[in-house]
Amino acid sequence: MALKGMRSVGWGLMLFLALSIALVSSRYLMADPEIYFPEQKLVYMAHTAAILAHVAGSIIALVLGPWQFIRRWRTGRRLAIHRWTGRIYLLGVVVGGLSGLYMAQLAYGGWITTLGFTLLALSWLATAVMAYTRIRKKNVPAHQRWMIRNYALTFAAVTLRLHLPLLTAVLGLEFVTAYRTVAWLAWVPNLLIVEWFLYRRATQ
Ligand code: HEM
Repeated sequence: MALKGMRSVGWGLMLFLALSIALVSSRYLMADPEIYFPEQKLVYMAHTAAILAHVAGSIIALVLGPWQFIRRWRTGRRLAIHRWTGRIYLLGVVVGGLSGLYMAQLAYGGWITTLGFTLLALSWLATAVMAYTRIRKKNVPAHQRWMIRNYALTFAAVTLRLHLPLLTAVLGLEFVTAYRTVAWLAWVPNLLIVEWFLYRRATQ
């Protein structure tokens, strides 16, 4: 398959997975404790505003992100749409990231999970700040690189929910062990993959 075709399939798969997880996560917005994940039900009931802010902000980022990578939507008159979508995306990351940082301190599984999610939240916020400050300085290539890293971290929401059933059902790990593992496995490989991709693109 030609490179362009492979890119379109990859983008389509990314969009499909992002929309699916956004849809599944949107149940949380009903603030119904019955649908919270059982181990954390009491925590979410005591911190409803934070978990709702987290899910709402993160869904916005997850859904808007893929469209920003379409090259022809970043030219001519469409650039205005890219800018506005980008501002809303960043708002989603800031709201989702700050509330995620807060929720990380209460996460299921103890300090290993807390540390994994805390570093994810800080990296998510830091890459967003880098992407924003680069484009304010009109440095488009650097802005693009930081946004690729940032969306790889947004995509942790997808990879977490793919890894978790694999670790429990296929490898037979206990839920708590699987949860501690995905607090890291959901995002560190994502970052390594995009770093490799960016390195290859720069050296080709
Ligand atoms: C990328 C940065 C993110 C960080 C640091 C983060 C952090 C967290 C933390 C700490 C929790 C609480 C976990 C616990 O109670 O054990 C949580 C739960 C949750 N997050 Fe995120 N999250 C991020 C991205 C996202 C995204 C993009 C979504 C997409 C919709 C999302 C959706 C959810 C949902 C639905 C829950 C409730 C628990 C569940 O059903 O898994 N998060 N997140």
